[in-house]
Amino acid sequence: MKKIKAKTKPKEAALKRGAGTVTVRNRSRSLGGSIQTIREVFGYLRRYRDQVFVIKIDDGLMGLPLFPLLIRDIVLLHQTGIRVVLVPGAKRSIDTVLQKYGTRTKTVAGVRVTTPEAMPLVKLGASNVSNTLLSLLAENEAHGVVGNWVRARALGVRDGLDYKQTGRVEKVDAVLMQGLLDDGLIPIVPNIGWNTVGRDYNLNSSELAVAVAKALRATKLFFVGQESGIAVVADCPFAEAEEIQAGVFSNLDLEEGEALLKDYPKALGTNSRELLSLALKALSGGVERVHVVNGARDGILLQEVFSSAGQGTMLYMDDYDHIHPAQGGDIPEILRIMQPYVDKGVLVQRDAEGLIRELEHFTVYKVDDVLQGCGALKPYGKSTAELSALVVDPSYAGRGTGAKLVTYLLQRAKKGGVKKVFLLTTQTSDFFMRLGFKEVSVSTLPPERRQAFNLKRNSRVLAISL
Ligand SMILES: CC(C)(COP(=O)(O)OP(=O)(O)OC[C@H]1O[C@@H](n2cnc3c(N)ncnc32)[C@H](O)[C@@H]1OP(=O)(O)O)[C@@H](O)C(=O)NCCC(=O)NCCS
Repeated sequence: MKKIKAKTKPKEAALKRGAGTVTVRNRSRSLGGSIQTIREVFGYLRRYRDQVFVIKIDDGLMGLPLFPLLIRDIVLLHQTGIRVVLVPGAKRSIDTVLQKYGTRTKTVAGVRVTTPEAMPLVKLGASNVSNTLLSLLAENEAHGVVGNWVRARALGVRDGLDYKQTGRVEKVDAVLMQGLLDDGLIPIVPNIGWNTVGRDYNLNSSELAVAVAKALRATKLFFVGQESGIAVVADCPFAEAEEIQAGVFSNLDLEEGEALLKDYPKALGTNSRELLSLALKALSGGVERVHVVNGARDGILLQEVFSSAGQGTMLYMDDYDHIHPAQGGDIPEILRIMQPYVDKGVLVQRDAEGLIRELEHFTVYKVDDVLQGCGALKPYGKSTAELSALVVDPSYAGRGTGAKLVTYLLQRAKKGGVKKVFLLTTQTSDFFMRLGFKEVSVSTLPPERRQAFNLKRNSRVLAISL
């Protein structure tokens, strides 16, 4: 089990990455040059076409001046071919209706006990938020549809307390919903579910959003609320960690999230803890990414979807899910990220033909189709390999990508029975020494590599035993 770590000294941190300790990258950065931004957007457009995004919207946002812009942005996503499903929260709206009609409900540990008297008002509150969304979608020339695609059952009696018509999701009719998405509609899923004999239940919208996202095998689930992400309290042991920006995690993988909940539950506020636990359920259920973002910020959804510079918290399955064997289509991007270092004399010049020949040795680091780094591992016999061409795009430097690529390549080498990995470097020896490499003599190189050694470059030779 990986552990969330407090910020350690750089060397310690770098070495621990190699030992499988958590590193959570800081995704926040200002958008780079406009060309790169446009490329990123095109990449995302291609990637997300026909993918399902489930968006849970906190109804507390609905009165804010920027709310119509949020809906406009959602319609833009829909217009690019993303299949959007909306799950509105209705807590505030239900509270307002209950208050208006002088009906009180009891809430226990955040769960409302829905009495038969309150149920019609709960439905009215839920329908009000759905109607608000329908109006705003219509304003943006998009077609929403509200429906009863969710089967529910009673939460029942817990610790002696009967929750009456408060329910939980039993099943989501994914086939029916996919049909609506095929027709270009935006389904709106209210927090009301029905059992097989038509009895209605009041559901938790966030849990509903997770169930819908799982049933539709959504690529992304968004929790759009008024928090900026999964927030940590200031005095927790890792509040200084570099991956926490303004008190909020920029990203967490499943294992890290589980460790956080298990080992430091008090480090999170109630809301963050609840969101994290729901997000982990969604990931375990097959949703690729979960994003917790602040809907009060203009353009937050577009930024989260169309750039790798997210503002909220992104949760995903696996820390290594960004590392893949290089494909032919990666060659132009590999050459592009290498070029600034070739110009500075840090790396030797490579061309497309050479890369095609060497491609099988290359590994790339990609986030949402954006190539951020690469490295190569070439075997010399059975027990020795050379690590080369390690590059991280300067726009993404300093987030642990370089160390992660090295760690991954070393782990792969070890699994393949390699005992020693060496590399040649002119200007990056300190970086590798922090990861455990030591300087060795040129004479230790495999003979064929020694022959190809460029005396003019006068590189240092570093090696690590596995
Ligand atoms: C070296 C390189 C891969 C590091 O990538 P990265 O993703 O920024 O690395 P990480 O985030 O894992 O580590 C960053 C740390 O490495 C340090 N670092 C980066 N380049 C370094 C160098 N040339 N020498 C010493 N340390 C270096 C950074 O200062 C930073 O230190 P800090 O943790 O104390 O702040 C990247 O800078 C690069 O592409 N360099 C040019 C190509 C190169 O030299 N490749 C190696 C030849 S095989």
